[in-house]
Amino acid sequence: METLINARMHRRSFQKLALALALSTPLALAALGGRSAGIALAQSTARTGAPRLAPTPECGDDDDLAATLPQTAGPFYTPDTPERRSLLEPGMPGTRLVVTGYVYSTDCQPIPGAPLDFWQADDAGVYDNEGYRLRGHQFADVDARFELETIEPGLYPGRTRHIHVIAQALDQPPLITQLYFPDEPANASDGIFNPTLVMDIQAAEVGETAFFTFAM
Ligand SMILES: [Fe+2]
Repeated sequence: METLINARMHRRSFQKLALALALSTPLALAALGGRSAGIALAQSTARTGAPRLAPTPECGDDDDLAATLPQTAGPFYTPDTPERRSLLEPGMPGTRLVVTGYVYSTDCQPIPGAPLDFWQADDAGVYDNEGYRLRGHQFADVDARFELETIEPGLYPGRTRHIHVIAQALDQPPLITQLYFPDEPANASDGIFNPTLVMDIQAAEVGETAFFTFAM
């Protein structure tokens, strides 16, 4: 069973990330927008077939988004991850997965440049606690869209299949949560699982594409 970690440790590490974002936002946005984003999408397309874009949230005048539920980070978070949108490595076993979506405020405004730090178990349900395998952070692009190229995480005792993430808007505390898969038998027996954090999954040419939009 996962336990709550020291929240101050997360705050410190993400304050570093937020500071880096504040100092480098024009650079980060330039790097993630336009041609670079197109290149990242093309790379994803080459590996996983036709890209699928998540629908942006539908925002009416008084149609606020429900805040994404925070969850425990568990015991396996490692700070200072490399910046990368793909966690794939040569020969890495597992079902290919692209997770994509947006980062929005609860009043339905996109948060371009929002940092997201992902980590997960490998296909055998094992975390790399020595290095940064299947760990990486990125910044949402100019449209507040993120895209993570990875594999489906494996199961480990006591937990259903899940991906950990910390997302942040500059003026808010970090949102620490987990993303889940639909129709997983272990969802029903996992005491941390919450159905509001289930991603929409579609079959891709290679593997699967998952959609999730964060509201914070
Ligand atoms: Fe976990």
